[in-house]
Amino acid sequence: MDNIERWKSAAENIAWYKAPDIVLDDSNPPFSRWFPDGVTNACYNAVDIHVEQGRGEQLAVIFDSPVTDVKSQLTYADLQELVAKAAGAFARRGVTKGDRVIIYMPMVPEALIAMLACARIGAIHSVVFGGFASNELAKRIDDAKPKLIISASCGLEPARIVEYKPLLDEAIELASYKPQACIILQRAEMQADLNENRDFDWNETIASARPVDCVPVNANDPLYILYTSGTTGQPKGVVRDTGGTIVSLKWSMANIYNVKPGDVYWAASDVGWVVGHSYIVYGPLFNGNTTVIYEGKPVGTPDPGAFWRVVSEYQVKVLFTAPTAFRAIKKEDPTGEYLQSYDLTCLQSLFLAGERCDPSTLEWATEKLQIPVIDHWWQTETGWSICANCLGLETPNIVVGSPGKPVPGYQVQVLSDHGGKVKEGEIGSLVVKLPLPPGTFTTLWQADARYCEAYFGRFPGYYETGDAGYIDDNGNVFVMSRTDDVINVAGHRLSTGAFEEVLATHPDVAECAVVGIDDALKGQLPLGLLVLNAGVLKPHKEIEVEAIQLVRDAIGPIAAFKFCMVVNRLPKTRSGKILRATIKKIAEGKPWVIPATIDDAAILDEIEASIKNIT
Ligand code: COA
Ligand code: AMP
Repeated sequence: MDNIERWKSAAENIAWYKAPDIVLDDSNPPFSRWFPDGVTNACYNAVDIHVEQGRGEQLAVIFDSPVTDVKSQLTYADLQELVAKAAGAFARRGVTKGDRVIIYMPMVPEALIAMLACARIGAIHSVVFGGFASNELAKRIDDAKPKLIISASCGLEPARIVEYKPLLDEAIELASYKPQACIILQRAEMQADLNENRDFDWNETIASARPVDCVPVNANDPLYILYTSGTTGQPKGVVRDTGGTIVSLKWSMANIYNVKPGDVYWAASDVGWVVGHSYIVYGPLFNGNTTVIYEGKPVGTPDPGAFWRVVSEYQVKVLFTAPTAFRAIKKEDPTGEYLQSYDLTCLQSLFLAGERCDPSTLEWATEKLQIPVIDHWWQTETGWSICANCLGLETPNIVVGSPGKPVPGYQVQVLSDHGGKVKEGEIGSLVVKLPLPPGTFTTLWQADARYCEAYFGRFPGYYETGDAGYIDDNGNVFVMSRTDDVINVAGHRLSTGAFEEVLATHPDVAECAVVGIDDALKGQLPLGLLVLNAGVLKPHKEIEVEAIQLVRDAIGPIAAFKFCMVVNRLPKTRSGKILRATIKKIAEGKPWVIPATIDDAAILDEIEASIKNIT
């Protein structure tokens, strides 16, 4: 089907206050505008429409929290009531259309309710993952300038309670911009102290709020900002618009995931990541599915059968998670013993994304589950998959190591450094020919120039994904690595530049480099090398421990920064570039050669000897 026809027809499948006459305005590339004269509301399409169409009693949300032993469920009618009241509460705090609201919450239904409540009144939410520390939250507060912040007293990790409120207080302290108010969900596991005049209790605020209706917004009005790692420590505020998001995600539920209204769909991720935005909250709800919010891990809560219990208990039809979760399960239950205890006949497919899926994990999952296991490739920027086997459109043709062919709407190509097309099967930069389909990012928050430069500057007419790979002669795309300094730790995208900025603040550190090294469980782990200022007498071990703590405090535990070592010098080219690729190979114990450009080859032997001591 023609690109415009496809999205025109997909747009007819969603609810509009004013249906668009124009499908695509492409007069100002790369700023493609889909459905520019349409008027709609994401919350209406996610919640109210289902109640109006008679599905009010159907389950919308299942909450399952093995870490607190709590299970609860909300019908679409319940969800409508709660969201309308939360929206009323936000409005009473002065939030109106276009205002930003930061949501810094654990995996609880209130996070989803807060997101939908923002959408209901046309406010722009920005969810910040709970594993980020105050410093990262502060950067997002300063960039998004939220009128209101929604948070909770705590989150629960298997071994500890994460106190969110002190982290939030510190972030507000650190930020130059101050929000007018915070609404805090007090959880039974830990109560937070509320600051008089600024903090309000979620339950009290919602209980006393008057429900409000959905506000019509323009299709191109931002639905949300989601910050993601770039090459520097300053995160990029990916902006997604309302109309394109509703159209593309609803289309994807039927055509990629092959689910129908009423089916239970579970994305085992976190609302703080793009997977959570698209496939815990918006996609399933736009499509009238039941979504699962799971506050737990694939292993250890309590065992590697956790996912199978949830699937069978709630009759999950499609499960979506990151390969790292499956590597964790496989490690603890290689024979799939836990799997045998559950009836999984309800599960029709497993989708994996977030990082490159290693063939052995894909093969293990396929063998154990005996269902299609679909690796699909996408990014925060695109919001939904660039390549996949589309189960609603065709019988899957799974090629191990490849996330499949481009999804309708994406024209993927491989370009050389000079911008020309590479030969078939040759590796290069993976790019997407403009226009990007609906639902992909429309800009970076208040940074149009950075948007143009970072993504469209190098290959005019194409979106540069930042991934390198190749396309085989059957059209299957293979995504092999990043072309920038972004690393992927347990499906989470992190910037080595951000790590280095933090390490450089240590008073004894003169210079540093961080590289991502392969890890059997998490895909990659960061390794930091530190060169100290002359004359530092403090023991190296002490400095390494301090540096690790510094990263944990500044970026957060999710950085999983555990390996750090002091070295005499960093290996560099004659022009001063740090030889990261060689450091990475040495650290991974892989064969390496002395690069011709190096200024002093002896440093590499020193690094190899030091690395052997820490690994
Ligand atoms: N709030 C606060 N801290 C958090 C957190 C949150 N929301 N999420 C994770 N953390 C902490 C963890 O407690 C851990 O801290 P620690 O160093 O004190 O142990 C650290 O951040 C790293 O967490 P995580 O990456 O979850 O590692 P893990 O060792 O606890 O678990 C896996 C390993 C593979 C089980 C886990 O990474 C996983 O389930 N991954 C799935 C990935 C995923 O959902 N990706 C989303 C894209 S689809
Ligand atoms: P994020 O924006 O955090 O979702 O991370 C996106 C990045 O994760 C992509 O640019 C890829 O580098 C990587 N990624 C996501 N899905 C896949 C996949 N299926 N195969 C290979 N890499 C992937």
